Amino acid sequence: MKNIETVDMQKMDVEEVDKLLVRRALEAREMAYVPYSNFAVGAALLTKDGKIYKGCNIENAAYTPTNCAERTAIFKAISEGDKKFAKIAVVGGPTSGIVKHTYPCAVCRQVMAEFCNPEKFEVIVAIDENDYRKHKFGEILPYLFGPADLDND
Ligand code: THU
Repeated sequence: MKNIETVDMQKMDVEEVDKLLVRRALEAREMAYVPYSNFAVGAALLTKDGKIYKGCNIENAAYTPTNCAERTAIFKAISEGDKKFAKIAVVGGPTSGIVKHTYPCAVCRQVMAEFCNPEKFEVIVAIDENDYRKHKFGEILPYLFGPADLDND
């Protein structure tokens, strides 16, 4: 397995970290398997302790098994024992065209709702490292349904 990159967040300012994540999301996008939509997406997920998990979208001839870039990154992290997340950067666009602001789909937002704090977790939607928007997760998924809703007390 490839080594997971770790950044020392104490030594970097927030902007440097955000720009690095956008670059890593663009790299991840290169791996997208998108023969059906030709819409390639890349994501880079930062854990609270500085690890970066990259993910791309992976399509399927039966269409519905398709996995989005964000979920690929999140599931990679979970499967390696990481589940405390700080932020995610996302880039997407047609393979033959330019990247455009691509927001996480509703399924990915629901997966984020399982693991991410709506007030703290950040979603960076980027064109490139000089053009990106940053949202608190709760902004893009208000009134979410999450694990706390299943508490009995
Ligand atoms: N897709 C993602 O990977 N992430 C998003 O945020 C939006 C959509 C993928 C799914 C599918 O492979 C392609 O983009 C077109 O919907």
